[in-house]
Amino acid sequence: MATAKEEGDLWGARAQEWARSNEPAWHDVFTAVLDQARIGKDTRYLDIGCGAGGAMVLARTRGAHVTGFDAAEPLATLARERLPGAKVLVGDMVDLPFVDETFDAVTGINSFQFASDQAQALAEAARVTRPGGGIHLQCPDYRSTYEPHYRLPWLPLMLRPLARQLPCTQFQVRFRSVWRPSTTSTPRRS
Ligand SMILES: C[S@@+](CC[C@H](N)C(=O)[O-])C[C@H]1O[C@@H](n2cnc3c(N)ncnc32)[C@H](O)[C@@H]1O
Repeated sequence: MATAKEEGDLWGARAQEWARSNEPAWHDVFTAVLDQARIGKDTRYLDIGCGAGGAMVLARTRGAHVTGFDAAEPLATLARERLPGAKVLVGDMVDLPFVDETFDAVTGINSFQFASDQAQALAEAARVTRPGGGIHLQCPDYRSTYEPHYRLPWLPLMLRPLARQLPCTQFQVRFRSVWRPSTTSTPRRS
């Protein structure tokens, strides 16, 4: 499991490319998560692992007050450029720099799987969400067969002896559209 610094360096190294080439493919997912989180006018909204701010851009068009948080400064910089006046902070999601019960809705879109301590990251998300607010997480499905970032077969459920035999670099998959993340959870604070 990588540290937030390592994740930030990795994700930040190709920030422009992520924003231009990858992020647009996720707009339907952003819309679905924002709908499920009922993000609308005056919602105090935090996106954890916000990347270049794509979900926040859509949330702002709905009238939400948007805040972003990410490990990668170059991505946070892009988000700030796209969202003048929005607070976009950089750090580790296991230690959020927000006071308790600040937000009505918190999302983690394809980001919580990168936390060094996922239970602590979720506890932090709960801490900054007001009672009755919602935390909405969207992560890749562990049962999926394709890993989209490295364009490789997704191995967790494969028999280990078989997986060890795979010369993975020969298995680069050229198409991306088959993979769709499908795990969304919506715990609510009470
Ligand atoms: C797959 S990208 C998703 C970005 C954005 N949610 C989107 O869908 O466009 C994962 C993001 O999680 C961020 N990230 C990874 N580990 C993190 C951590 N420990 N704390 C905060 N952000 C983290 C990365 O910097 C990256 O921007």
